[in-house]
Amino acid sequence: MIYMDNAATTMRKPPEVAEAVAKAMNAMGNAGRGTNDASLNAARLIYDTREKLADFFGAEDPKQIVFTSNSTESLNTAIKGVLEPGDHVVTTMLEHNSVLRPLYEMEEKGVSLTFVQSDKKGNISYTEMEEAIQENTKAIICTHASNLTGNKIDLQRVGEMAKRHHVLFIVDASQTAGVYPIHVQEMQIDILCFTGHKALLGPQGTGGMYVRKGLQVTPLKSGGSGVQTYSKKHPTDMPIALEAGTLNGHGIAGLNASMSYLQKVGIDQIREQELSYMWQFYDGVKDIPGVQIYGDFETKERCPIVTLNIGEYDSAEVSDELLETYGICTRPGAHCAPLMHKALGTVEQGAVRFSFSHYNTKEEVETAIEAIKKLAEEE
Ligand code: ALA
Repeated sequence: MIYMDNAATTMRKPPEVAEAVAKAMNAMGNAGRGTNDASLNAARLIYDTREKLADFFGAEDPKQIVFTSNSTESLNTAIKGVLEPGDHVVTTMLEHNSVLRPLYEMEEKGVSLTFVQSDKKGNISYTEMEEAIQENTKAIICTHASNLTGNKIDLQRVGEMAKRHHVLFIVDASQTAGVYPIHVQEMQIDILCFTGHKALLGPQGTGGMYVRKGLQVTPLKSGGSGVQTYSKKHPTDMPIALEAGTLNGHGIAGLNASMSYLQKVGIDQIREQELSYMWQFYDGVKDIPGVQIYGDFETKERCPIVTLNIGEYDSAEVSDELLETYGICTRPGAHCAPLMHKALGTVEQGAVRFSFSHYNTKEEVETAIEAIKKLAEEE
């Protein structure tokens, strides 16, 4: 199997990730629920992972890192936990449904939305974004990179804009956490939402969010916390405020191992490897007659994604053919990014997304290029 669907989830992980999960499965108690060794071991490991993530994202305090099950839970918590009826939000057409659907729910409750439009290459205008800010704007909520095109948004620039206008800056880093450096304090990010199972190379069911110190987010859930048991209210201290119930300690043990791997190898080196495969593939397919590539390839600052179509060929059929004949895994269809597909004019056809890992090889990329050549000849 040639796995090129790493924007959906990275399948190949460093071996120590699975080893850490297996070890935790047999040794981990419930963190914060006891003083036995098993419970303390869990608490220490979870705290160590919190520290690693705080360091990785430039947070002021590990307590500002909250564990969730994925970006979707983080984004729901952020969006529903800070917005109120009467608020206005500036967002973009690049967003995934994990941003859009919670926003649409809030729209029904009286929050108004402005979408910064995308051009045909999948880029937005920062001037348009700034002009969209109005008196009742509560937040700019945007992705760091489109999961469809791989185009990136300049977080530093948007963060400075948000600060200038005294609005919150909430970022979906699903596609970039572990690919590009993110420093929440330097980039003026108030809430960063990330998942563990993509470029952070951790297990599915892990993820989290950074919340700036002092910012109150109303939790989605309340329940057991291990402390203040006789209070009718869930504790408001971070991170417990946003972590009701037993955490996914086993998964977090895997994330701890993957964070160590990223630290050891370095995300710059990993990204360079992934981008070299992306450019090899892009250069190999861009001039094939009938092949249409989406996104901005004039910039080197992008995610390792190439999304394409072949003539009028349905994207699901191309993806099936790639799998059945060549063993290549890609993602076709709509990628939970409806507005981006509208902007690109691909609502009917969908598109075939190739997303690379540093575990891919040049030979695998060559096979993918040859496959696209053959399919384009047949079309
Ligand atoms: N959001 C993931 C993707 O882009 C699942 O495929």
